[in-house]
Amino acid sequence: MFITFEGLDFSGKSTQAKLLHEYLKKRKIKSILLREPGGTTISEKVREIILDREHIEMTPLTEFMLFSASRSQLVSQVIKPHLKKGYVVICDRYYDSSTAYQSYGGKMELKQVLEVNDIATGGLKPDMTILIDIGPKAAFARANMRGNAKDRMENKNLAFYTKVYKGFKDIANHNKKRFVVIKGTLTINEIHHTITQKINKKLNISN
Ligand SMILES: Nc1ncnc2c1ncn2[C@@H]1O[C@H](COP(=O)(O)OP(=O)(O)OP(=O)(O)O)[C@@H](O)[C@H]1O
Ligand SMILES: [Mg+2]
Repeated sequence: MFITFEGLDFSGKSTQAKLLHEYLKKRKIKSILLREPGGTTISEKVREIILDREHIEMTPLTEFMLFSASRSQLVSQVIKPHLKKGYVVICDRYYDSSTAYQSYGGKMELKQVLEVNDIATGGLKPDMTILIDIGPKAAFARANMRGNAKDRMENKNLAFYTKVYKGFKDIANHNKKRFVVIKGTLTINEIHHTITQKINKKLNISN
């Protein structure tokens, strides 16, 4: 089973992905936790290029292509082989992030982004995507509480995150079958509990 986590910066994706991974390990269910961009040697190198603050001349298309290249390598080298071996693969961000950030929030055309997403992943869709639903203002409030991380969000403005947020909501509405939308302002434990219930149901195991 392939599970992805999506949502704005600071929504709580990494927190929940890690908790789910630990929960599955405790239950002796084989699982692997990955993050995007990254997860393979090549993908981590691409990540460095994308996140390097000195690369200010990077065009939106180059950035999107790099995300896609990193994802493509991750899918072929890690995700697909683990799914074949029966693992639960948990991925902290996947192609919905490209759609939300690069298309809704950025300059890329939606149709092109969806096409490249499909090419980069060989059409590999998540079985379940958990959208941790937190609006841009709440995300900024959390960023403010975490001093140094604040700069990252302030690089882009509230208008940008408002568009990205709308993007996530639209994507979820267009893919109702695979999306589980959870209010990100609930407590960490409440969110974790909702997630494990959904996953157990999907895996057909008791809570
Ligand atoms: N449900 C919650 N309620 C309050 N605070 C939370 C909740 N979930 C996570 N946090 C806190 O919010 C911050 C961001 O969480 P986390 O790093 O998991 O977010 P993220 O979505 O992975 O962000 P990024 O996109 O930047 O990687 C952390 O300080 C975390 O402890
Ligand atoms: Mg994170």
